[in-house]
Amino acid sequence: MSSAALPIAIIGAGKAGRQHAAALQGTAGCRVAVVVDPDETAGRHLADAYGAAWRSALDDASDLAAAVVAVPHHLLEGAALRCAEAGLATLLEKPMALDLGGADRVSDAFASRGLPLQVGFVHRFREESRAAYALIREGRIGRPTFVSEVKPYGVQNTPAWVWRRELGGGALLYNGIHGLDRIRWLTGLEALRADAAGGALTHDVDVDDTIAGHLRLGGGALAQVLVQLSPFPMDGHWTTTVYGTEGAIEVRTGQGLRGWGYDGAFAFGVERCDRFSAQAAAFVAAARGSRPPAVTAHDGRAALAIALGLLESAEHAVSVAIDAGPAGSDDRTSSTGGTT
Ligand SMILES: NC(=O)c1ccc[n+]([C@@H]2O[C@H](COP(=O)([O-])OP(=O)(O)OC[C@H]3O[C@@H](n4cnc5c(N)ncnc54)[C@H](O)[C@@H]3O)[C@@H](O)[C@H]2O)c1
Repeated sequence: MSSAALPIAIIGAGKAGRQHAAALQGTAGCRVAVVVDPDETAGRHLADAYGAAWRSALDDASDLAAAVVAVPHHLLEGAALRCAEAGLATLLEKPMALDLGGADRVSDAFASRGLPLQVGFVHRFREESRAAYALIREGRIGRPTFVSEVKPYGVQNTPAWVWRRELGGGALLYNGIHGLDRIRWLTGLEALRADAAGGALTHDVDVDDTIAGHLRLGGGALAQVLVQLSPFPMDGHWTTTVYGTEGAIEVRTGQGLRGWGYDGAFAFGVERCDRFSAQAAAFVAAARGSRPPAVTAHDGRAALAIALGLLESAEHAVSVAIDAGPAGSDDRTSSTGGTT
């Protein structure tokens, strides 16, 4: 590919789209060329900030090489399929689609065209997450046996669609799914079964604002998941603790990590946390063909499968086997771990 700056479209000029645009603007090798949003005010406002063009829809993509899709959940699949059709390398926000059939259609559309697709699990790009990943891979805590994933989050301009079931809303799909990805990614273990309770405890809505669940993971390991979107303002934060046969590591958003083991305890903080920029750099590298996508379609589908399993369990009070996906869907070429 040439060294010219890659022209990228931001599809969806909302909360996430604005963060992606700012991150891409500071990333070498690309430029925000187009902003697509049917809301002209939002679309033009973001486009003007980056000297980009505004379009109400992605009808013409002939001047583009890549796209970032950040639209409400019920529109993610359709927008992603349109990007694949147009031949655009794509960074697709979680949860990819509303159901596993949709995630598979998206995955197939990109795979069949040999186009890079990266899924937006931006938390993987936090310094503290990457440090924990590296330490666990080094064997610092031995074999992971148990994970505690706690993610309370206070309402902070949460878009209205997040509270509507038919639009793919709910705390777990909007926010908690990052923690489900974190469990898989940090432990390297897939979830096999989900049991959960939850629903609308803090808002008068028909989707979940609270989920308390547990997962059975491969190798006999277990995880507990606590997610809540609270009605009062509260900084978004999470604490993930991975316990192993030889130690434990606790990661806290923006604060760093602590660990314990037979050699004693350790701790370190983080200096800065520019996760969207690190994600953008990885995506541009994938779009240019210089490395595989940092978070794959398989990763996106697997996290969605866990989320849907927990939601089904909570709704019907049953234990749910996690859908592992079609045979051969395991394209675990994720490079987030050691190399970003
Ligand atoms: N990774 C993160 O930290 C993070 C944070 C927030 C949101 N998200 C994800 O980003 C996505 C969007 O969430 P949000 O909070 O930005 O929502 P939002 O409501 O703030 O923004 C969505 C935007 O999409 C636009 N839109 C609607 N239909 C469209 C279409 N057909 N084509 C183009 N644009 C269209 C809307 O007008 C709106 O401007 C979701 O998948 C969400 O889960 C990720």
